[in-house]
Amino acid sequence: MAKKITVIMGSPHKGRTLNVVNRFELEIKKLGEVDFEYIFLNIADLKECRGCGACLEKGEEHCPLKDDRGEIFNTMMHSDGVIFATPVYSLQVTAQLKKLLDRLAYIFHRPCFFHKSFLPIVTQGVYGAKDVLKYLDEVARFWGFKTCPGLGLTVAWENPLPSEEEKINHEINNAAERFFRQLNNEADPIPGLKEVAIFRSVRAFHSTNGGMAPDHRYYQEHGWLDSEYYYPVKLSWYKKLLGNWAEKQALKQAEKTNKEKEALRL
Ligand SMILES: Cc1cc2nc3c(=O)[nH]c(=O)nc-3n(C[C@H](O)[C@H](O)[C@H](O)COP(=O)(O)O)c2cc1C
Repeated sequence: MAKKITVIMGSPHKGRTLNVVNRFELEIKKLGEVDFEYIFLNIADLKECRGCGACLEKGEEHCPLKDDRGEIFNTMMHSDGVIFATPVYSLQVTAQLKKLLDRLAYIFHRPCFFHKSFLPIVTQGVYGAKDVLKYLDEVARFWGFKTCPGLGLTVAWENPLPSEEEKINHEINNAAERFFRQLNNEADPIPGLKEVAIFRSVRAFHSTNGGMAPDHRYYQEHGWLDSEYYYPVKLSWYKKLLGNWAEKQALKQAEKTNKEKEALRL
C-alpha cells in the first residue's frame, strides 16, 4: 500500500522551499508508491496561541480558539510520514510554522506520533539551517516521531551555478532515499539514555498528584505509569538502572513539592 506523507509548508509563499520539496517529492516517488498532501500554513485558518494553558491543564479540546488546528493534527495523525518544511527566517523557523508548534504544544506533554516518520526540510540563504534542523528534530522526538536526518540546503537568491545545482540535486536524492527507507522500516527506534531518563522522570511526575490531570489520565490510558518506555522495547541493563535512578529522583522532588504545597494550604 502507498505510504502517505503530509508536508506542512511553513514558507509564507510559493518560493524556494516549495521548489525543494517538490523536487524531493519527484525523487521519492521514483523509489516506490508514495502519496503527498500539502498543508500551506500561510492560507490555513490558524490563530495565534493566547497562552491560556487550557490545552495543557484541562485538555486540548478546551482550547478557546476555533480554527483548522484539529484538522491539521488529524491529517498528520493519518499519515505515515510528516515533513516540516521551512526557510530560515531570522535564524529560526517562520512565524507560520512556529504558530503551529505553539498550538500543538500540548503534545510535548502527551506525545502521540509513535511509529510515524518525520523529516525536516530547511532552506537558508547563508546561515541558520543547521540549528533549525536540530530544533525541529528535537520537537518531533518529544512528540514521539521516528526522526530521519533532515535536509538542509543553501539556496541561491538568483539562479544557482551548475556546481551548486549539482550539490542540491545530490542532497535531495540522498534525503529521498533515507526517508523512503525509514518509511518502510517497521522497527521502532531504541531510545538512548537521555530519552529513557526523560520518560521515567516525566512519568514519575505524572504518577503523583504533581502531574496535570489530563497528562496523568493520558499516561494511565496508555499503560505508561508502569511500562519501561512509550512502546515495547528491550532496554540494556544500564538504561534500566539509569531509568530507575531518574524516576526515584523525580519522585523525591515531587514529594518535596507536594509537601511544600500542603504546608501553604494549612
Ligand atoms: C525575512 C527573511 C529572513 C531571513 N533570514 C535568514 C537567516 O536568518 N539566515 C539565512 O541564511 N537566510 C535567511 N533568509 C533567506 C531565506 O532563508 C532563503 O532565501 C530561503 O531559501 C527562502 O525560502 P522561501 O523562498 O521559501 O521563502 C531570510 C529571508 C527572509 C525573507
